Amino acid sequence: MDRLLAPFRDQLRRPPVLSPLTRHGIDHYRMEVCAAQVRLHADLPATPLWTYNGVYPGPTIEAFRGRPVAIEWVNALGVERHPIRTFIGYPTANETSQSRPGRDATGRWSEQGPLLRWVIGHLHGAAVPAQSDGWPDNAMFPGMSVTGCYPNPQRAALLWYHDHAMGQTAQNVYAGLAGLYVLRDDEEAALELPLGEHELPLLLQDRNLDLDAEGRPTGALLYKLDQPHGEFYGPYTLVNGTIWPFVEVSPVPYRLRIINGSNARFYRVTLVDDQDHDDQVDALTLIGNDGGLLPAPAPVRDAMLLGPGERVDIIADFGGYAGRRLMLRNDAPAPYPSGGAPSNEVVMQFRVTEGVTRGSVALPEALSPIDPIAIEASTVTRVITLEEDPAVPGMMRLNGKGFHDGVDEMPRLGDTEIWEFRNPTEDTHPMHLHLVAFQVLSRAHLDPGQPSSQPLAILNTERGWKDVVCCHPGQATRIAVRFGPFTGQYMYHCHILEHEDHDMMRPYVVVPPEMSM
Ligand code: C2O
Ligand code: CU
Ligand code: CU
Repeated sequence: MDRLLAPFRDQLRRPPVLSPLTRHGIDHYRMEVCAAQVRLHADLPATPLWTYNGVYPGPTIEAFRGRPVAIEWVNALGVERHPIRTFIGYPTANETSQSRPGRDATGRWSEQGPLLRWVIGHLHGAAVPAQSDGWPDNAMFPGMSVTGCYPNPQRAALLWYHDHAMGQTAQNVYAGLAGLYVLRDDEEAALELPLGEHELPLLLQDRNLDLDAEGRPTGALLYKLDQPHGEFYGPYTLVNGTIWPFVEVSPVPYRLRIINGSNARFYRVTLVDDQDHDDQVDALTLIGNDGGLLPAPAPVRDAMLLGPGERVDIIADFGGYAGRRLMLRNDAPAPYPSGGAPSNEVVMQFRVTEGVTRGSVALPEALSPIDPIAIEASTVTRVITLEEDPAVPGMMRLNGKGFHDGVDEMPRLGDTEIWEFRNPTEDTHPMHLHLVAFQVLSRAHLDPGQPSSQPLAILNTERGWKDVVCCHPGQATRIAVRFGPFTGQYMYHCHILEHEDHDMMRPYVVVPPEMSM
């Protein structure tokens, strides 16, 4: 592919940390959704985006366990139209025009109607009262605001906030509405993990760019979907809002906190030599994932799979690599796992400075204990089948139902349940539950005669507490969930944002135990 832009032109940006407006027992923040122009690459004109407080990614919130945060979410958009235009393509056979920049004359393309100027903020991974969870139907138009309260009762973890507006979460997040929320606690602080400039959050997203008549990128984002897939895959990988950035690092350990914030793309990442991409660098140790730290560090031997919404927490020890250039590499097919589209191999580059190596610094042997959920106590096993609607191409369902079809799952507060996601489709679906963290129990073949191409093993990156789980094709994936600490109406959905919007998302209600159903 002609990439049109050079990789490793720009420094990795670190999203600014937002200062609270007041700190009276509660940290108060204001997040204004507003249009802004942001440069995504040194050789590109600025890109019109929707942003939180004018920056992309949104400003980072640093929170502490047990200390509540209040965020006033404001729709401060004006009358300008949505920065993203949606093009649906019906490419001719074997064409994957979606993974090339520009609108592309091949195949048939049609533009979809204008999007709404409505938004609603959701804090992904948060144990939060239902009224602050960001209900998609309660999205706000310009001039409206709502204050969400986040009590932060949970352990330290990297959460992220993003838009969740009904029917257009995909385009709103694509337009720039995502940011990081770093929750810390004393237990984690006592471990003295790399901090400050040695802690790098890395938000991975893929995008496409529109071209002018001469074939030069205009700076405008392009959102085009190939049917029948109907999931967005773009040729440019951005880290913290910059296309293929580089970062200069010292030959010491760094903490890399990676989030897959893409709409639909899976990443399978390794650290390799910048020249010889088959030369895997043995510098990574896994310490945590969605729900925080794991019980003990584990060396990373294989590529790490990250579905949309998933996070990994890594120690990268650059100690033995002074003067070297390393690359974060992705080799996941798109769609995952059976797609043939280019894998967007380049993610970003690390330039390790020359200098004194302090020798590798030992990590603590134990990180944070995790008690397995007692599944003997589980009250019910619910089966949820992930389906394509045979009648409507591109429409997805859960147990044959969509978001507005009424509530079926009503766990009681404090109850433990087993949820089994059955996936007869061809795609891996990253299933996400709001409110709770869960544990992955098992994977099994749906039909022993037709085994899935994906392994059944639970990966190291899937141990501990998760809020997204990859449900592979041809498999039944089981999780254990203890519902709480709040009652109310929440939702669960596939985190491929195009699937979530159409309509692989369902409500569920946590009911008070005294209430008999
Ligand atoms: Cu990342 Cu419903 O959320
Ligand atoms: Cu969420
Ligand atoms: Cu899906």
